[in-house]
Amino acid sequence: MPVSDSDVVRYEWRGSFSNQEVNALHAEAFEHRLFDDNWVDQLERLSLGWVIARDDDGLVGFVNVIWDGLVHAFIEDTAVALRARGRGIGTRLIEMAREHVAATGCEWLHVDFDDHLRSFYFDACGFTPTNAGLIRLR
Ligand SMILES: CC(C)(COP(=O)(O)OP(=O)(O)OC[C@H]1O[C@@H](n2cnc3c(N)ncnc32)[C@H](O)[C@@H]1OP(=O)(O)O)[C@@H](O)C(=O)NCCC(=O)NCCS
Repeated sequence: MPVSDSDVVRYEWRGSFSNQEVNALHAEAFEHRLFDDNWVDQLERLSLGWVIARDDDGLVGFVNVIWDGLVHAFIEDTAVALRARGRGIGTRLIEMAREHVAATGCEWLHVDFDDHLRSFYFDACGFTPTNAGLIRLR
């Protein structure tokens, strides 16, 4: 089948985006109501970086990388639009984040996730299992 322009996905580390489009993608991916978060401000202040994926129809993927300022980086909010899932976009988002994080000198890339995503993070993205802990604060 020929590849149409809308099948071409462009990825960018620390690419530009609007709050509106990330809020919309986040709400769709994590199945919550539409929030009005200021992603532009938060990411500029707090993140090591992020990856934006776009096709001709708009934003199709996003991942945020936060860090400790030293050697540990953490994957957060990996999201691919429903219309674009199952085409390797999520895997490429993580791969690109990994490449750029490694280039900063970080030594470890962490992630945590629900059971049903084991195949995505372990098999597709190359993470290895480890012990981790979590406390719900509220
Ligand atoms: C998880 C997510 C980012 C994956 O994006 P994607 O572009 O569809 O993923 P890929 O096409 O790169 O998938 C690669 C492989 O990972 C596995 N995988 C991907 N999504 C999966 C899911 N939702 N459940 C189980 N396995 C999944 C599959 O084995 C897949 O290979 P296959 O297509 O040959 O079966 C996407 O489903 C999403 O946005 N989910 C909702 C938000 C979310 O839960 N994010 C993770 C937070 S920790």
